[in-house]
Amino acid sequence: MSSIIYLDNNATTRIAPEVLETMLPWLGAEGYGNPSSAYGLGRAAAAALEVARGQVAGLAECRADEIIFTSCGTESINTAVQSALALDPDKRQVITTAVEHSATIKLCEHLAQRGYEITWLPVDSSGGLDLEQLAAAIRPDTALITLLWANNETGVLFPIHEIAEIAGRKKVLLHVDAVQAFGKLQLSLGDGGIHFLSMSGHKLHAPKGVGALYVNRRTKFTPLLRGSQENARRGGTQNVASIVGFGKAAEFAFGHLGSRQIMEWRDAFEDHILSEVPGTTINGDRVRRLPNVTNISFDGIESEGALLLLDQHGICCSAGSACTSGSINPSHVLKAMGLSNEKARASLRFSFGRFNSAADIQQVCSILPGVVEKLRSLSPAGTPVLAA
Ligand SMILES: Cc1ncc(COP(=O)(O)O)c(C=O)c1O
Repeated sequence: MSSIIYLDNNATTRIAPEVLETMLPWLGAEGYGNPSSAYGLGRAAAAALEVARGQVAGLAECRADEIIFTSCGTESINTAVQSALALDPDKRQVITTAVEHSATIKLCEHLAQRGYEITWLPVDSSGGLDLEQLAAAIRPDTALITLLWANNETGVLFPIHEIAEIAGRKKVLLHVDAVQAFGKLQLSLGDGGIHFLSMSGHKLHAPKGVGALYVNRRTKFTPLLRGSQENARRGGTQNVASIVGFGKAAEFAFGHLGSRQIMEWRDAFEDHILSEVPGTTINGDRVRRLPNVTNISFDGIESEGALLLLDQHGICCSAGSACTSGSINPSHVLKAMGLSNEKARASLRFSFGRFNSAADIQQVCSILPGVVEKLRSLSPAGTPVLAA
């Protein structure tokens, strides 16, 4: 196998060279100071954190003092939700959706065990939400609405600014899991009525293990990790090198938000596969979605087998979300959109990124149809029944 064709950028991304370069001084002999220390070595680290905070805030279009650095998107989500619940112990309902990332699902399941009522809003066949249903679900005891901006499996976008308008009208707190949207879309947080928003570095070419939480400056906040760092909003000595890298990645992403290259690769790939491989369906709204991802069902195959065969060609993609791959359960996202178990298990997610090339797309377009054909010929039924 000569080289890898990495089409799993929603799972994680390669650290960009300019990100690594910015990080290195903070890992070596010159830059290891504790940002809380008063001497120069520490002050330099603290100053580097503030540069990164400004870069992350720049991409989110919010104020730098509204950004708290965390260890990952999952920590940001847990912090936001627990902070909202701490505000009023009488508010016992949490509204979320059936298609969230496992970070939110597991947390909400845990809250349910602790006596909270979780309202899981359904989605339609294209992965969209019914906003009237969302508004109707809000009650006097609603503590929080927590939902995705962009779905990690299908890329489908929820209309967050409209949802923020509903939350504002009904005076309910809103947390947005923007882990997949951050760096790919213009978020324009401004003062748009979002109270909390979670981000993660490793989806935009920064390292794993660094994240951020936006907390609107007028929103009351209770830390999850107690300590003096981050203005006593998140205890724990900051991961300076990774935060600096996250800032650099955010700066790069901000400068390239208008670029259409990745979307053009995705669209060219989709067009080719739809025309060359019969029995294929794109899952999710094809317009309101992230520019870099496509989720495709191939009738008559099992995605696990496809992953193995593609891996033999050096092609990395995923079946469902990375956090649940390895299990043979069909994706809860595709199930919530009404796909049968069979069709959900026959789906693959391809997520493109800036380090792909036109040659990668051509290569995958030439290999994938044969892989699907091979799997279909091996399927127990012999010839698969292809959807009309
Ligand atoms: C939508 C979404 N939310 C949350 C997370 C968790 O982020 P992290 O891996 O930084 O904890 C992910 C990661 O896959 C994600 O895709």
